[in-house]
Amino acid sequence: MAGAQVHMCQTVCPSHANHRGELSPGQLLKWIDTTACLAAEKHAGLPCVTASVDDIQFEETARVGQIISINAKVNRAFTTSMEVGVKVTSQDPLTQLQKLISVAFSTYVAKPSGNNKVDLKPVELLTIQDFIEHTLAAERRKVRLDHKDVLKNLMEACGTDDDHVCHQEKDPISTDLTRVQSIELVLPPHANHQGNTFGGQIMAWMETVAAISASHLCGLHPTLKSVDMFKFRGPSTVGDRLVFNAIVNNTFEKSIEVGVRVEAYNCEEWGRGQARHINSAFLIFNIINNHGELYTVPRVRATTKDGLRRYDGAIMRKKIRLARKHIFSRKEGNYTADFWDQSNQANIIKSNVTALTILTEKPGWEIINTLDRIKMYILKETDVISIKAEMQVWIPSKIAFFLLSDFTLHVHWAKQYLTCRVLERVSEEDKIYHITSPSVNGNKPDDFLILVSQRKPCKIGEPYRIAVTPVGLIAVPPSNRNDYGSKIHCTGFMVYGNSSSSLVSYFIQSVPPFATNLAHLLKSTEETASECIKFLESRSKKMELQL
Ligand code: COA
Ligand code: ADP
Repeated sequence: MAGAQVHMCQTVCPSHANHRGELSPGQLLKWIDTTACLAAEKHAGLPCVTASVDDIQFEETARVGQIISINAKVNRAFTTSMEVGVKVTSQDPLTQLQKLISVAFSTYVAKPSGNNKVDLKPVELLTIQDFIEHTLAAERRKVRLDHKDVLKNLMEACGTDDDHVCHQEKDPISTDLTRVQSIELVLPPHANHQGNTFGGQIMAWMETVAAISASHLCGLHPTLKSVDMFKFRGPSTVGDRLVFNAIVNNTFEKSIEVGVRVEAYNCEEWGRGQARHINSAFLIFNIINNHGELYTVPRVRATTKDGLRRYDGAIMRKKIRLARKHIFSRKEGNYTADFWDQSNQANIIKSNVTALTILTEKPGWEIINTLDRIKMYILKETDVISIKAEMQVWIPSKIAFFLLSDFTLHVHWAKQYLTCRVLERVSEEDKIYHITSPSVNGNKPDDFLILVSQRKPCKIGEPYRIAVTPVGLIAVPPSNRNDYGSKIHCTGFMVYGNSSSSLVSYFIQSVPPFATNLAHLLKSTEETASECIKFLESRSKKMELQL
């Protein structure tokens, strides 16, 4: 296995399975955590602990007799933490049929002895895929570290409704009936050689308790579909008593959200009733009836103030999950704007940077024309054509990035921009712009909204990135908004260079019918690139004079 990669394979035995002969999700979570932790430790050369496991979905179930393959690879090392990507597949030894069970991303923190902190070495990037995952790991990290705030802001923005929806449901079941408590004593087989409880073991216990809670609702066996992030807030060790509290927070048409909170006590804390909150997670179950069909879940009613808050929280989490699913299942070259609201902002931003990174790393770019300071490349795919104009600009890369990141300046060189103004400053690095562009039919100018995400390099040698994607805002209806898909659009810039010169790549994508007029598209992109060089150099000179 090259680099920080680890591979585990297992045969699903009856002891790993539930009453239906399917691999139990708890067992799978233990294998995932062990494999990922070993990959992290291989890279760090130090013991590591599980900090979190991002949202995880179970696409398929595996059955007794099938073989499970788990591949774990460190995508990126930050300072003391590492993101590990895990892919789980199953194989039937009789038919050789392979299925994808799950893809997960977990974070491990290296723990040297004593109170020392490490500065982990970077991951060696050997393939284009390594490079892409390395870049995306930084975006996923933002999403996971902001997750709590996103949910909090969303809850605050939506406010609390005294006349709760759950009071309007017909014959709802009280969530109190689904309350479950369980206790586990952490023994040596549940912990590593340093006595720390395995994260996978805790996740497995949480799944068991959550499944019991969900089953109280309808008297059938639930199947785990997904988990909204396991976050390990603090360690636990051999000898700890772990108390698991679970309750159904809300139900939807075909799914149930169960929340689990885990508290740890050592022997003295136990006596004093002093708990350490070590984990909370939200697990989503489906119920499959005896005919293999999805069962319609009864609605629930929360009776306490906390219950009502959790009922609303479950709705928000579902909103975030759905937004994420929609954004990530969007087909490439589909420029339909995603609606920008609090539930999906983080996902749209991540998807924006992801799309540019993937485009730039795709194989098959063909050089079409070499001019004095511009090289034109083209990448033809089934339903989209991408063009790259690579420009040699005699200004520092830092300045090129600064001037290109501010889209209000694009009106000086990009002829498709008539006006441009900042509509929303999402953060220092992400802004929404309102743009008008000359109309194709000679009537009113068209207008559209874009999200621009600018990213500085994390390490020397990496490029500056500026990713662009269309967005929709309910508060800003189009005056004469054209379908973004019928246009040719900038998808971003990459800027390499040093303190005296820059290599700027300008990417645009086009979908038919524009793609058919390729010669015209290439010519106009060359002209735009040439204007861009002139603008960057003259503006940089002005900036120097001002200094
Ligand atoms: N998800 C991903 N990474 C996280 C995180 C989370 N929820 N919380 C913290 N981190 C990362 C930080 O980004 C930081 O990474 P960096 O050094 O690469 O920038 C690193 O963890 C340390 O962060 P810091 O703020 O210094 O530490 P902390 O006090 O928040 O501790 C843990 C983080 C994970 C070490 C701590 O919460 C812990 O010990 N958790 C229990 C771990 C464990 O025992 N797991 C096994 C099951 S019990
Ligand atoms: P929150 O209450 O904000 O959801 P917690 O970390 O306190 O966050 O709890 C996580 C989940 O664990 C809750 O949503 C709930 O489903 C479950 N839970 C917490 N406390 C209890 C309890 N005392 N009994 C049953 N379930 C609980």
